[in-house]
This record gives sequence, structure tokens and C-alpha cells, in this order.
Amino acid sequence: MSNQFNRRSFIAASAAAGAYTMARPILGSQKTTERLQVAFIGTGNQGMGLLKRVLNFDLADVVAVCDVNEGSYGYKDADHFYGREPAKQFVNDTMAKRKNRGSWKGCESYQDFRDVLARDDVDAVFLVVPDHWHSIMSIMAAKAGKHVYCEKPLSLCVAEGRDIINVVNETGIVFQTGSHERSRPATQFICEAVRNGAIGEVKKVKTVVGFNNKIGPGPGWQPEKVPSNFDYGMWLGPAPHEPYHHDRCLYRFRFHYDYSGGQITNFGAHSCDMAQWGLNRSTGGPVEIVCDSAEFLPEGSLFTTATETKFRCTYADGVELECISSEPKVQARFEGTDGWMQIGYAGYSASRDELLKGAPPYRAKKGEIDAHSLHMRNFVRACTGDEELAANAETGHASATLCHIANTAIRRFPQYGAQPLQWDPKEESFVGNEEANQTLRRPQRTDWMTG
Ligand SMILES: NC(=O)c1ccc[n+]([C@@H]2O[C@H](COP(=O)([O-])OP(=O)(O)OC[C@H]3O[C@@H](n4cnc5c(N)ncnc54)[C@H](O)[C@@H]3O)[C@@H](O)[C@H]2O)c1
Repeated sequence: MSNQFNRRSFIAASAAAGAYTMARPILGSQKTTERLQVAFIGTGNQGMGLLKRVLNFDLADVVAVCDVNEGSYGYKDADHFYGREPAKQFVNDTMAKRKNRGSWKGCESYQDFRDVLARDDVDAVFLVVPDHWHSIMSIMAAKAGKHVYCEKPLSLCVAEGRDIINVVNETGIVFQTGSHERSRPATQFICEAVRNGAIGEVKKVKTVVGFNNKIGPGPGWQPEKVPSNFDYGMWLGPAPHEPYHHDRCLYRFRFHYDYSGGQITNFGAHSCDMAQWGLNRSTGGPVEIVCDSAEFLPEGSLFTTATETKFRCTYADGVELECISSEPKVQARFEGTDGWMQIGYAGYSASRDELLKGAPPYRAKKGEIDAHSLHMRNFVRACTGDEELAANAETGHASATLCHIANTAIRRFPQYGAQPLQWDPKEESFVGNEEANQTLRRPQRTDWMTG
């Protein structure tokens, strides 16, 4: 038996036995290391963007990168070249130019994330992989004693989010959801103003999710040969086994229901999260949800998530959240008894100028720290005990849950039309609808563990 196999068996066996590895002590007074040592798992479109920021703002020491793709073009844009080897080279080249490299000795690359979790010098992991991996990797990382920054949406389904919260509570690790709008000073300003009653009593919040920005193949598409530098088995992991096509994987996974909730969860993890933050409902959720319209591509197309939608949900006190597919210029618009305030890619505005007095700029100026980096810095500082987390697991779970139950209503729309679903936010289940409750947990294949 190889050492590698032994280490993996150890992690799997410890996890099964409920045993946890303690996080390396770096907190406050008992510091054993000056700098957080981190690993990036998933070095694609978002992973490379975050990695560059970590180095640019010198937030932590990157000692490992991991991806099932050795390195290739064909991410969001055809000329984007990402994967584990470009990531490793980028880290090592950047650090080589630094005069003061502290105790940092180099960055290693890995194909299998379990080998990263087995390293006892890794304090924290950034999980920047497709959504179908979020809960498995978060849980395994927490059990291996690693702090976790996991990209949004927190989970692939409601039950996985609850699983993450449970393991975070059991292990005591620091867990940040990647909903970086929570660290944007302008979003903080607007949501805090709304919570403090600046526009009176809020009756309604309008949110948006973006349109699909890629076109996939229609019915009759043909499988392709798996590239030699790509571990497709470990890309699929717990998801159903389906033949390879490049439009299934890099970046485009977000348009397949097996790996994502589509633009509903992709954008909703920001816009609906901001909405719930302004409403002071960062935990819990609505009691009713109804889909008014939903469109899908023809049966047999490779992309299976909704292409357009409108849904509404109502909270126990009658407040309504509405979400439509649109350009995300305004991600959250709060309407109260004494005015309105809104924020999104186009900046912010309000019904009266005085409501915006003292508001910070929407975007960081060139060279200034941006919202993504502030969010990661907040995570690093939370790991060292210096700051409260901006987006803990409960927060990420609440907004992901809203999007997941919306998807249940959306996916039923072609068959049932605009039929309201009753939701119990405490029990986290639909009331009196067993068929809808079947969507709360997705089956996970386990053969990747031994394959
Ligand atoms: N916060 C934001 O604004 C924001 C923006 C974009 C994406 N995201 C999130 O980031 C995540 C990744 O999205 P993306 O656009 O970077 O996708 P991507 O496909 O470009 O990158 C994901 C990478 O993960 C790798 N990967 C897949 N399975 C793996 C495994 N088992 N082990 C190691 N690597 C694996 C893929 O090969 C790929 O390189 C998603 O959850 C997405 O929602 C967040």
C-alpha cells in the first residue's frame, strides 16, 4: 500500500469514526506561526482571480494548489489558460520576485484534494470548485482541521448546507461563505441603512438573477474524448455519471442542474443574500414561495437549468421578495414606507439624496483593496481571531436555501404552473408536499472515493 493511500484511508476512516483533527493553533496569543498557510482547491475562472488577489494584497502564504485540470484553455473565455500548473507557476514566479519571503518555501501542485488535506502545514483551504463538490470538500476539510473559505453558493441542495453547518459547529473551524458583497463597504452601508429604518418599514425587496451567458449544444449533442490532462472522474465526483463534453465542465458547469442551481443560485447567492441581509433575515427564510414564470432549453439539450424566471416569496410577517431574470444592474432594491434604496453593478441610488450621505464608493479605485480581497482578508483575520466573519455558514445557508427552494418551484413550473409551495424555515422542509421534499437532498455517488 502506498503512503498516499494510507493517508487517504486515514482521513476516510477518521471521518467515518467521527474523529476530527484539530486546526493548527494560530489563534491570537497562542500563535505558532506568523502567517496563515493556505491551499487553493480549484484554480479555474474564480480560483485564479482569488489567488492573484491573495498574492497581490499579501493576505497569506499559498503553499499548495490543486485542480483536476493540469492546465488548459477554454474557461469562461477561450483564451483563459488555467489549471493547477499555471496556478503553481504563477505563485512561484510572483513570490520569486519578492524580497522578503518570510518562511515561505514554495508552492506544490496536486491533482487530488485529499493529498492537500493530508498536509499538516496547511491551515486553511479556499474551495473554488463547482457547487457539487462544496459540501463534500468543506466537510472533509473541516474534519482534517482546516479552516474553510468556500465559494458561494454554499451548497448544491438544502440538506448539504445543513450538513456543513453541523460539521463547522462540531469542529470549531472558521468557515466563510464566498458571498463577497457582505464585505463591500457600499453594500454594508445600504443594507445597514435599510435595517436601521432609513426608508421606514420595508414591504418589498426586488432582486435579480442574470441570464445565461453561454450557449450549449442542443438535442443530439455528441460526447467528446476526455482530454489527457483532465481527471474527468474526479471532476464528476459525486455527480451522476454522464459522458464527457467540454461544455459540461470548465466554467459551463453552472448551466447544468447536476452541478449547480443555474443562474438562480449563481447570482442569487449574491442578490438574494443582500436582500435578506437588508431585511435582517440572515438566518431563517420565507414561509411561501411561488414561481410565476420559467423557461428551459428543449429537452435533450446539454444545459438543463432555467434560462429565465420570475419567482416571489413571502416571509411570516408579510414582507415580499421578488426575483426576476435581468441584467444585474440593480441586485437588490428595497422599498419601504418612506422611500427606497437600491444597489447593484450600476452602483447605488435612493429616493432621497440625504439617504446616501457618507456612503462609500461602490467600486474600489485602482490599486485599492476590492470587495473580493476584503472578504478574503476578513476570513484570514477571523482565522487569527482578529475579526468577526462577514459571511459564516449559517448566512450562506440561508441565502442558498432560498435559491434552492426557488429552484424547486421553478422546476415544477412546466408541470404545475404557478402553484405556491409552503415552506417551514425551522424544519427546513416543504409543508405537506413530499414530492417537493424529495428535492432537498441530491443523491451522491461514492465510487470516486475508491476510484
Ligand atoms: N464570488 C463570486 O463572485 C464568484 C464568481 C465566479 C464563480 N464563483 C464560484 O466559484 C466556484 C467555481 O466557479 P468557476 O467559475 O471558477 O468555475 P471553473 O470551472 O472555471 O473552475 C473550477 C475549477 O475547479 C476544478 N475542479 C473541479 N472538480 C475538482 C476536484 N474534484 N478537485 C480539484 N479541482 C476540481 C475544475 O477543473 C476547474 O478548474 C463556483 O462555486 C462558483 O459559483 C464565485
